[in-house]
Amino acid sequence: MNAIQHASRIKISSPTELVFESADGRRFPIHPIWLRERCTDAKSMDQTTQQRLSDPSDLELDLALTAVAASGPDGFRVRFSDGHEAEFRESALLAEASLPPGDHDSPVPELWNARLAHHPKFRWAADPTPRELAEWVEQFLRFGFIILTGVPSEPGQVLKVGAQFGFVRETNFGALFDVRSTPQASDLAYTSVHLDPHTDNPYRSPVPGIQLLHCLVNETTGGLSTLVDGFAVAETLRRENPAAFKILTTTPVRFRYVDPTTELTASATPIELDASGAVHAIHVSPRLDFVPLLPFDELSAYYAARRALDHRLRGADFPIKFLLASGDLVMFDNRRLLHGRTGFNPAEGLRHLQGCYIDIDGPRSVHRVLRRSRNGAGAHRGS
Ligand SMILES: [Fe+2]
Repeated sequence: MNAIQHASRIKISSPTELVFESADGRRFPIHPIWLRERCTDAKSMDQTTQQRLSDPSDLELDLALTAVAASGPDGFRVRFSDGHEAEFRESALLAEASLPPGDHDSPVPELWNARLAHHPKFRWAADPTPRELAEWVEQFLRFGFIILTGVPSEPGQVLKVGAQFGFVRETNFGALFDVRSTPQASDLAYTSVHLDPHTDNPYRSPVPGIQLLHCLVNETTGGLSTLVDGFAVAETLRRENPAAFKILTTTPVRFRYVDPTTELTASATPIELDASGAVHAIHVSPRLDFVPLLPFDELSAYYAARRALDHRLRGADFPIKFLLASGDLVMFDNRRLLHGRTGFNPAEGLRHLQGCYIDIDGPRSVHRVLRRSRNGAGAHRGS
């Protein structure tokens, strides 16, 4: 059998029906409303913004195709029962039909563990070429993190790097935050103690999508940065302990942050799934999680499940460790990766990092815009 016989296609099955045939053998008629709401003609869609001109919920629920004909090698001419006629390109319909439900038209996450041999590491350039920027973003989307070296060791540089990939998300900590040991710290991050793998700020809704940490000074021999691929750990748990996985995807846990001027709370399941059942986000912070009071047996099961997850996160199989030297910056997906730090002795010298958050969709937007530029396609706006 050749490749053509395996390819997805859309074909006319009758004068009033278009059929989708997927490469994996699924076959079904294309719903008339699905097709009608994808009309791109000037009556249906504003040609500048590419936004619809009417509410598709008002389409007749029994809308039907009344005529279908080929129109060139890649096209169909379709008439609908509401009288509207439109042209469709098979390639455009197939491109959309092949998108997975989770909206990943970006590089698919490549799960990793402690054996990850090659860390995605690049030399920072304040004015990167499109090719360099595309490579950084591609690797970030695949692995959930990148390390940039040679970022000038000056305060505020982290905001410049963040702006290259998206929009900085200011919080009650400010646009950027300093990570160094201070007396009467408001967060254990600002001490010298060991920090277990955690996601940042699970008490916010939405949580910060991406964190950047820039090392200005590190004169200590400890204080190694740790990263764990939470998606890889969650998928391992799903395979090895499905009962624990189920509990951690269905039990909402409360997270809370309090200081004299701020009080934030949010609830989230430790493992968050999307509508297709794929792992969407991890919400784990061993210093901040408070499970609701549930019946005794349910809590016993929850605590066992939490331990099963936590011991994998902290065990030897998944985390990577590396020293951030002055000028190094790590940018990571705070929904996918957990981060931590080994303890250090502040008497050895200074350790000073600056961090900031940017929204999760920034690098995906950069990736799409660069791809669009390469393909020479036009832009459109959305609201
Ligand atoms: Fe943190």
